[in-house]
Amino acid sequence: MAWPPLAAFGMGPFLEPMIVPDTDSAAGPPLGPVILLGVPGAGKGTQAQRIVARYAIPQISTGDIFRAAAGTAQGRQLAAYMERGELVPDELVCAIIAPRLAGPDCRRGFILDGFPRTIPQADWLLDFLACRGLAGPRGPIVVYLTVGYNDLYRRLAGRRTCPACGRIYNDFSQPPQRPGLCDLDGSALVQRRDDDPEVIRERLISYEERTLPLIEHLRRRTCFHQIYGADPVARVTENVFWALETCRDGAR
Ligand code: AP5
Repeated sequence: MAWPPLAAFGMGPFLEPMIVPDTDSAAGPPLGPVILLGVPGAGKGTQAQRIVARYAIPQISTGDIFRAAAGTAQGRQLAAYMERGELVPDELVCAIIAPRLAGPDCRRGFILDGFPRTIPQADWLLDFLACRGLAGPRGPIVVYLTVGYNDLYRRLAGRRTCPACGRIYNDFSQPPQRPGLCDLDGSALVQRRDDDPEVIRERLISYEERTLPLIEHLRRRTCFHQIYGADPVARVTENVFWALETCRDGAR
């Protein structure tokens, strides 16, 4: 499928990820690409940050990219979908992410956090990776984080994020050392506009309708691991690392 050029969407410099590891000096064989799947609040962003720290590959979060576009005409268009809890149209998402995946820091692998989210997006991605030689030595690795719906309210309503470094906190489960301030750089933490109860409801409906069918679709086409995401963060991370190593070693 051919997508319109990026310029058609007025895309600009906001395509940079929030966390950029020093991939040139990173050691070890390539990994991935890694695709993190899960319901809103499952812990995709939290685990992505830990994978970045361990494997020195970039995190590419479509949600973060869209939020970073705030203040531009395109950003307002994207925000309108996000604030209603709807998914951004597939064509637009793929057009935005394509040049990011071609970045030089993606050569050793990368983590997709929040993409793909529909079957058309996944099919586009698998074609794109195959055509560009980016599929990795053993193909994409999928980590599907599962969390019961009852846990999600505290996760989303309690989430706070550092606008400077992107670090994620939670008032209930992972509070900062000083209330409201980032442990790393002291910035005042912010709450996402779509972490409002009405919008959360719509996001969960979008997930059930558009993203759940993707799970079985990818299970058959990738190195797929399902991980219980309601364990403590450190335990989930251990299991995620085990899954990544298993796929990298070709054990599955
Ligand atoms: P996006 O920003 O991707 O949001 P999301 O998928 O809804 O996921 P979240 O970021 O809310 O949750 P998460 O799983 O990353 O959890 P986190 O680690 O933060 O997308 C936003 C919007 O952009 C979408 O609604 C859509 O409009 C649009 N969009 C984005 N991508 C798109 C696409 N591909 N196609 C179309 N539209 C797209 O954790 C949540 C909280 O839980 C945190 O406070 C954290 O501290 C806490 N926590 C994490 N793990 C644990 C644990 N194990 N125990 C206790 N607490 C934990």
